Amino acid sequence: MRDSAPPLLSVNNLRVAFGGVERVRGLTLSIRAGQTLGIVGESGCGKSLSWLAVLGLLGDAAKIRGSVLLDGSEMIGANRQTLERMRGRRIAMVFQDPSGALNPMRSIGWQIDEVLRLHRGLRGAAVRVETCRLLDRVGIPDPVRRANAYADELSGGQNQRVAIAMALAGRPELLIADEPTTALDPTIQAQILTLLKDVQRESGMAMVLISHDLSLVSEMCDMVAVMYAGEIVELASARALFAAPAHPYTRALLAGMPMLDGPRRPMVAIRGSVPHGQDMPPGCAFAARCDTFVAACARPQGMHTVAPDHVALCHRARIAT
Ligand SMILES: Nc1ncnc2c1ncn2[C@@H]1O[C@H](COP(=O)(O)OP(=O)(O)OP(=O)(O)O)[C@@H](O)[C@H]1O
Ligand SMILES: [Mg+2]
Repeated sequence: MRDSAPPLLSVNNLRVAFGGVERVRGLTLSIRAGQTLGIVGESGCGKSLSWLAVLGLLGDAAKIRGSVLLDGSEMIGANRQTLERMRGRRIAMVFQDPSGALNPMRSIGWQIDEVLRLHRGLRGAAVRVETCRLLDRVGIPDPVRRANAYADELSGGQNQRVAIAMALAGRPELLIADEPTTALDPTIQAQILTLLKDVQRESGMAMVLISHDLSLVSEMCDMVAVMYAGEIVELASARALFAAPAHPYTRALLAGMPMLDGPRRPMVAIRGSVPHGQDMPPGCAFAARCDTFVAACARPQGMHTVAPDHVALCHRARIAT
């Protein structure tokens, strides 16, 4: 069974600090081949930072601790050569800001060609044929001609699709997609999501999907991690998380989610803001914003098992249904 296979990626107590302030505060999770893990949470909760740290893409100012095992090999502290071998080929990332991922000095086709040569060993005419196939699959019209275009000649949404084509070009075992469809119109978004699912079915690629779009996460993901103030406050199967959220923060997030079959309504913001640095309380980081606060919330919280495959960082989760 898929669940009994060893994880492809195991993250254990990952911490990221800048200037002595921890922004990611002990991330622990694992992903198996073929699985899709959703990451949700308000802006600034450490979603992007966590995965940039996993890939070794943060500069020297970031102090990183903990362990990230890819098929049992440690990535934290690995030398540049080892990381470069893994990136693109074994793990690829679609960045939240696609413009930074593309080289403005080279045509988009050149850049995808390069990934195919480097990570797939393609040579000769087969390279450009495959590049055009990938551009076509992400919905870039007239790919033979468009392959010669530069990033600044394309729209933001087209650049995002090129970045997705480039990430898929190396046939990675794990794709980290940070808001991959935010700049896309609904038709193209649906096309990209179908493509990602197809690739997963064909190759068993695992995926981390970071998104503010909870409907998308519920549709695409097997598991969901809810991040708040740099830590996971709830981790569960998507089904359990959306049907029976155990953490008050998750409940507040879902309360702002438009009903899938109901009328569209604006997101309801949660009162207050995410604590950082000096403001971080010793107990539950959500306590000051929680409608169900009691004295026990002011003490450090532990992860409680709500059900198999469902944990929450809240003392109440023990008695949650
Ligand atoms: N290079 C950096 N130096 C210092 N602080 C940083 C750096 N990058 C991010 N941060 C801080 O770390 C916190 C987490 O940032 P991150 O980008 O991971 O948020 P996020 O959850 O991805 O938010 P969003 O949903 O807006 O993308 C934020 O408070 C941010 O200001
Ligand atoms: Mg982000």
